[in-house]
Amino acid sequence: MLALTLGRLAWRAYARVGAVNAVLSRAQLLLAGALHYVLYAALVGLTLLGWLTADATSIGPRLFGVLPLPRLIGIDRNLGDDLQQWHAQAAWLLLALVAVHVAAALWHHYVRRDAVLRSMLPPAAGKDRSVRPAIALAAAVECAGAGC
Ligand code: HEM
Ligand code: HEM
Repeated sequence: MLALTLGRLAWRAYARVGAVNAVLSRAQLLLAGALHYVLYAALVGLTLLGWLTADATSIGPRLFGVLPLPRLIGIDRNLGDDLQQWHAQAAWLLLALVAVHVAAALWHHYVRRDAVLRSMLPPAAGKDRSVRPAIALAAAVECAGAGC
């Protein structure tokens, strides 16, 4: 989870994707961007807390149950209990954030009827990719290069 989240954050910075959307007002863009960052923070925090919990309470996490990951802290039962509680609380926080996030996506699609949800589809399936400026820009550059 941590590798996927960090990989996605790196790709996001490299490809300059994000909640940049021509159909949204400035306030909505800021709100969406902030919620996305909180989602990322919850994902990183939750997975690190899980790692620390596994370190403090057991032999530490093993990738797919086999490959041991580096130990971040030693065994500590009391701290382990606290970490496990924080990990569980972080899991609930993530669930709540995802609920808000999915509700926002559905609101865009069914109430505002804009292309925010559709912009997540692969190029062949998504009809209006132009709503995401990063993608629209890439398409324009590609088009200029091909002389169209
Ligand atoms: C039914 C489930 C989901 C739907 C319909 C959905 C929909 C979307 C949509 C439409 C966007 C693009 C928003 C934009 O361009 O402004 C988005 C972005 C995002 N979603 Fe979801 N999502 C779902 C589940 C999740 C889950 C489970 C997570 C995390 C645990 C998540 C994390 C994110 C993040 C972090 C972004 C921002 C991406 C970026 O700009 O880097 N989503 N989602
Ligand atoms: C999105 C990722 C994750 C979610 C949603 C999640 C969720 C949860 C939840 C709900 C619990 C039960 C908590 C309780 O009631 O006490 C739990 C326990 C635990 N998680 Fe995670 N977790 C995630 C990632 C991880 C990772 C990456 C690790 C370790 C590398 C980890 C290690 C643990 C450990 C050691 C426990 C305690 C297990 C036990 O009670 O014996 N988790 N997790």
